[in-house]
Amino acid sequence: MHQVKFTAMADGDKEDYDFLTAQEIAHTRGTADRLLAALVELDEGLSGYQITRLGHSLQSATRAERDGADTDWIVATLLHDIGDIYAPYNHDEYAAAILRPFLREQCTWVVEKHGDFQLVYYGQHVGADPEKRQAHAGHRYFDDCATFCARWDQASFDPAYDTLPVSHFADRVREVFARTPYDPGVIRAGEREPLYRA
Ligand SMILES: [Fe+2]
Ligand SMILES: [Fe+2]
Repeated sequence: MHQVKFTAMADGDKEDYDFLTAQEIAHTRGTADRLLAALVELDEGLSGYQITRLGHSLQSATRAERDGADTDWIVATLLHDIGDIYAPYNHDEYAAAILRPFLREQCTWVVEKHGDFQLVYYGQHVGADPEKRQAHAGHRYFDDCATFCARWDQASFDPAYDTLPVSHFADRVREVFARTPYDPGVIRAGEREPLYRA
């Protein structure tokens, strides 16, 4: 069998859907490498800054690693702007949707909200509310998102910084996307890990 027999989903039988499930599992194994390729595509996006979006992503993740952050934080940081490619108006939510099945809830939440939190650094210059983050005041991950933006995101536009290459992070990305999706032992709802060691 190399393709299903049906032309409308309602007509498929168990053999068809067993075949498709196997195909999907094989396709899923390539997710990490497709994301790494998409990250490299960010090199062509958004001019005007002193570094590309790829450079920014790598620099943010390099800072996370040098802060002693764990794998979930490093991969979340590497991919936090991956949504810029297809979702310029909600790139944070888009990235979070990709990461949610495979990362700790804390990291996914921070990626999802980082756009609101980043405004404190420039909202006043673009007619947006710099304090938009206050909509999340009291949330258990509020301080984590503030720290993420302060130490890793807003600081990582420096062409002189000693940034690590994509190849340095590839195995971590593959490890994360090889996890069992939505595994409670990975999601660890409500738990927090530090972003840096003081
Ligand atoms: Fe962003
Ligand atoms: Fe960013």
